[in-house]
Amino acid sequence: MIINKHLATEHVSDRNLALELVRVTESAALAASRWMGLGNKNEADGAAVTAMRRAFDTVEISGTVVIGEGEMDEAPMLYIGEKVGCGGPEMDIAVDPLEGTNLCAKGGPNALAVIALAEHGNFLHAPDIYMDKIAVGVGLPAEIVDLDASVEENMRNLARAKKCEVSDLVACLMDRDRHSEKIARLRDIGARIMLISDGDVAGVIATTQPESGVDILFGIGGAPEGVLTAAALRCVGGQMQGRLLFENADQIARARDMGITDPHRKFDILEMAKGDVIFAATGVTDGAMLRGVRRSGLGAVTYSVVMRSKSGTVRYIEARHTYATKPWAEN
Ligand code: FBP
Repeated sequence: MIINKHLATEHVSDRNLALELVRVTESAALAASRWMGLGNKNEADGAAVTAMRRAFDTVEISGTVVIGEGEMDEAPMLYIGEKVGCGGPEMDIAVDPLEGTNLCAKGGPNALAVIALAEHGNFLHAPDIYMDKIAVGVGLPAEIVDLDASVEENMRNLARAKKCEVSDLVACLMDRDRHSEKIARLRDIGARIMLISDGDVAGVIATTQPESGVDILFGIGGAPEGVLTAAALRCVGGQMQGRLLFENADQIARARDMGITDPHRKFDILEMAKGDVIFAATGVTDGAMLRGVRRSGLGAVTYSVVMRSKSGTVRYIEARHTYATKPWAEN
């Protein structure tokens, strides 16, 4: 039998890459977890960024950060455009070393270390501004929700597709004044609501997990987080749309520089994350999808998920790290 060696090698290295990404999110989560509940979100974020940056040094890719910690002049590490990895296939990378910095600082739920990776040119280059988002989970008819439809219409369509009443559905929104009108209108039609203080990446992912009880996410959060969640939803088959929200002309100019020619455009999930996408996350604090880091005198345990759009495989990884052999995991 003739085996296509090239394809076989590529496949194996692709698979290894998924595990390598988990090592990177594990490193960030371990570092951030030392700051859990200590009330200092910047130190927590800084620790996660440093650890993630260091972990990338051994990953065999030629990576470019396209969603990162900001611009080169404002972010010393993992800035947009930074090259990471020790050489290999050209990849674009979206990172959020600590998604939910406040959550970590307060010991609240759902703080995560997150990465998504795709071949060059496959992620929307979203500036660090707000994005209006709508997202639902798996197994629903295409285009069941629409950012341009009213909340009432979206909820009725979703209820019809899920063969239930609007009052059976739970909508997740960030607890922000900017959402008060949406929240009032949802309550008026009898929908139930879960308000989260931070972390809409976890909010979107919750829509894909029946045990979370969340059916739909509405509202405005960070645009970088929007691209990361689009990558996650691509892997499991959820749906999402987003629209960038600009506060001034500088932001519009910045977006144009990043290749966004129509600032008012509604992006669908494939426009935010296309091609073969790998998404990895490790829990920093406990959440619906992942447990947070557990520590003892001898080592730590991390809980991660890694998923890939090409295969649709979702893998949960529980890793035991021993301080004696991995001294960096202790700090
Ligand atoms: P950080 O991890 O950068 O603190 O972001 C957390 C977060 O809650 C995101 O999940 C969300 O998209 C965004 O902040 C919302 O921004 P704001 O707090 O300004 O409403």
